[in-house]
Amino acid sequence: MTFATPSDAVHVRAPGKINVYLGVGGRHDDGYHALATVFQAVSLYEDVIARHADDFSITVSGVDDPDSVPLDDRNLAMRAAKLLATAAEYDGGVALEIRKSVPVAGGMGGGSADAAAALVACDALWGTGFSTARLHELGARLGADVPFALHGGTAVGTGRGDQLNPALARGRFDWLLVPSDDGLSTPLVYARLDALREAEGALADEPAVSLDVPVPVLQALRSGDPVLLSESIYNDLQEAALYERPELETTILRGIHAGALQGIVSGSGPTVALLCPSPEGAQQVQSMLREQGIHSLHVHGPVQGARIIG
Ligand code: C5P
Repeated sequence: MTFATPSDAVHVRAPGKINVYLGVGGRHDDGYHALATVFQAVSLYEDVIARHADDFSITVSGVDDPDSVPLDDRNLAMRAAKLLATAAEYDGGVALEIRKSVPVAGGMGGGSADAAAALVACDALWGTGFSTARLHELGARLGADVPFALHGGTAVGTGRGDQLNPALARGRFDWLLVPSDDGLSTPLVYARLDALREAEGALADEPAVSLDVPVPVLQALRSGDPVLLSESIYNDLQEAALYERPELETTILRGIHAGALQGIVSGSGPTVALLCPSPEGAQQVQSMLREQGIHSLHVHGPVQGARIIG
């Protein structure tokens, strides 16, 4: 089937995320773990530009190592475009240009943001006209974090992290992100958590009885008070990420010493997210870290999910 072609190119911007809270339960038969998480979309973006083409192709810019991002079906944005084409019975292709800013394999959902942006961009380019709910459902098939990259803001994720409910968040939270040169594999970090739990005598595949986001996390987000939030940010994957990269603990401690309220490994890592008291406070911490040779990015959240710009 072919559709009306409203424009020659569609530019979509989708945010990276921080898991402000990440509770990991048991592993299910499909290999996924039960989660209770709070995502916050932050002002570090992936840009995807979709153009008409007969075939499917991807170009990527903004990465130090071009080999770090696959350009074939291993790329989540490529899979997103093909999944949408199949669902819409669209028989053309698309040329996707991806401009990356979110660290690759950094625990900030950069690949998921690319997929979310590709879904929105191709939907508009091809005139598919799918509803948000339908795009969300397709996104969930691509990866657990894709629905949140579509949604943005601040949201509670349950199930595999793909069942979303908006969370009220007042004001803005300032974060410093400290990226690592080498990414971490998400499946590896989950497997490490299972191994650590098994070593402690907890069964990795034990079904979680109850996995809820603690009320103080939601209250802190509602209050807009970064000091309150700093008392309740938590990540179950942190122990496993620190096992793989012990030096991240030093980064967190240096951040706190420089004036951050608290530090946490973002998602499966290795990016460290330092919660700061204010925009000015974040700038001060950033310059103190810079003097120690630690490069960081100042971002804020929450921000909108994948949207067409320009
Ligand atoms: O869904 P996504 O592709 O982002 O997940 C990457 C990997 O992370 C999965 O293959 C799985 O190993 C792990 N994962 C998990 N439980 C989740 C989400 C991700 O074990 N809820």
